[in-house]
Amino acid sequence: MDIFEAIKKRRSIRRYKNREIPGEILAKILDAGKSAPSAGNVHPEIFFVINEQEIKDKIASAALNQYFILEAPVVVVVCADVEKSELHYGTRGRELYCIQDTAAAIENMLLLAAALGIGSCWVGAYDEYKISEILNLPGSVRPLAIIPFGYPNE
Ligand SMILES: Cc1cc2nc3c(=O)[nH]c(=O)nc-3n(C[C@H](O)[C@H](O)[C@H](O)COP(=O)(O)O)c2cc1C
Repeated sequence: MDIFEAIKKRRSIRRYKNREIPGEILAKILDAGKSAPSAGNVHPEIFFVINEQEIKDKIASAALNQYFILEAPVVVVVCADVEKSELHYGTRGRELYCIQDTAAAIENMLLLAAALGIGSCWVGAYDEYKISEILNLPGSVRPLAIIPFGYPNE
């Protein structure tokens, strides 16, 4: 699939098959995220890969009860190390670049997933405090998106 096709074919998928994503495929998707542009090449993005049903359960509840997340074999919580960006670029790094960098990484992952036949959905509606607590994040790391990945069942 070429890039234009992937862009046009990507849709938010909220039903997933009960089928694991092979490790090498997931690694490619994460690598696509890490290959995104980043202000000053700082790369503040951090990916938490979650397979455990119990943690997915907590995440779905913190995501305003969006229980479709539970169907996905893998859930990636995309975070930004806000202090890392701030260290390089001050307020602009903290308030803008770390969010733009992370968004670029997310879109890269969604597009590569679509090209590889894997469905995903950018989930942004959640209680940020609760997600930080579930993942035991330090204050400098903000969870900026939750992305369930799985083979589409719709
Ligand atoms: C910042 C952001 C937050 C979003 N949050 C959610 C969400 O919490 N739950 C959900 O089901 N979809 C969420 N979406 C997906 C949008 O609903 C979806 O992209 C939009 O309806 C367009 O559909 P498409 O992705 O299939 O083109 C979010 C998308 C973005 C970019």
